Amino acid sequence: MSFFRDNIEKMAGYVPGEQPQGEGYIKLNTNENPFPPSPRVLAAVREAASASLRLYPDPMATKVRVKAAEVFGTRPERVLVGNGSDELLGLIARAFLGPGDKVVYPYPTYLLYKVLVDIQDATGVTVNFKEDFSLPEGIVVKGAKVTFLCNPNSPSGTMVWPDEVARLAKRIDGVLVVDEAYVEFADANCLSLVEDNPNVIVLRTLSKSYSLAGLRLGFCIAQEEIIEGLIKVKDSYNVGRLSMAAAVAALDDQQHLKENLEKIKEVRSYLSESLREMGFFVYPSQANFVFARCKDAAAAREIYEQLKRQKILIRHINYHGFEHCVRISIGTRKEIDTLLEALSEVLCETKKS
Ligand SMILES: Cc1ncc(COP(=O)(O)O)c(C=O)c1O
Repeated sequence: MSFFRDNIEKMAGYVPGEQPQGEGYIKLNTNENPFPPSPRVLAAVREAASASLRLYPDPMATKVRVKAAEVFGTRPERVLVGNGSDELLGLIARAFLGPGDKVVYPYPTYLLYKVLVDIQDATGVTVNFKEDFSLPEGIVVKGAKVTFLCNPNSPSGTMVWPDEVARLAKRIDGVLVVDEAYVEFADANCLSLVEDNPNVIVLRTLSKSYSLAGLRLGFCIAQEEIIEGLIKVKDSYNVGRLSMAAAVAALDDQQHLKENLEKIKEVRSYLSESLREMGFFVYPSQANFVFARCKDAAAAREIYEQLKRQKILIRHINYHGFEHCVRISIGTRKEIDTLLEALSEVLCETKKS
C-alpha cells in the first residue's frame, strides 16, 4: 500500500543534470556560466550576512522587485521573485492546473514541464517541433489551461521569434508561459508581450547569464492579476535575505552582464563553427549551449562517455528521437579548446575501430 496519491506513485521525478562532487571537471552539461558573477554580488552578500539573519526576509522581496522592474522596463507590481525560475514554474502549475487539465508544450523541451504536469495530475499534450524547431500548428490546443514555451528552447538552443509568440498568445485559450531562462544570450525576447496580453507569463533567471545558478533566484513577469494569483500560492518567505542582496547587486551591474554575454557569444560561434568543421550538424543557437547531431545514438553515447572519462561533462539526454544528439554548454575558450581536442581524439579512435 502506498501513502502517496496515485499520480505521484506512478510518476517519475525530475532527474537533475550531473553535479559531480569531485574536483577538476570541465563542466559543460548544465548550462552554467563559466565566468564569475559581478564582484558586487559577493560584497552585497557579505554585508547582508553581517546584518539581521535572525529576522525573516521581506515576503515580497520588494527591493529585488523594484530593481528587476527597472531592468525589465516594467512596474514592480508585475514582477514576482522566486527561488529560481523552477520554483516559479512550480507555482504556475500549482495555481493553474488540477487533475485532467490540459497542458501543452512542444517536444523536445525542458523536462521539468512534464514532471510538473504529473504532480498536478494534469494531462500533458506534447506536440513535436517541426524539423527546424519552428512551432508546429498543433501547439494550439482547444481548452488548454497552460502552454509552456521554452524560448530559446532547451535542448535545441533555437528560438521562436517574438512576433510568432505574440500570434500564439492570441490564439490559445489559457496562459502562455514563455520560459526565457536563456534569453539574455539571444537577439530578441518576449517581455514586451506582457503589456498587451493578460495571458502571457515571462520567466527569467539569474542562474545563467548572471552566473548565479548557486544562488537560486528567478523572476516571473506578468500582468498584476496573474502576479496576485501566484502570490496566493507561494511560500511566505520564498527568497532569503542573502539571495535578495545578491540579486539587487547583480541586476545593478549591467556592464558586467554585457561583457560576460559578449564573451559567451563569441565562444558559442567558435564552438559551433569548430563542430561543423568536424562534421557535426549544429542547430543555430541563441542560448549558452549548442545542440549537435552525431552520426547515430551509439556515437553520441560514446562521445559522452569518452569525454566523461577525461572529466569533461557534456549532456547526452535520452530524448526519444534525439538520442543521436548531444548538448554542450559554452565554457571559457580554454575549456572549449580542451573539449575540441578531446573530441577530435574520440572521433579518430571511433573511426579506427
Ligand atoms: C529552460 C529552463 N528553465 C528553467 C530552468 C531553471 O532555472 P533556475 O535555476 O532559475 O531554477 C532551467 C535550468 O536549467 C532551464 O533550462
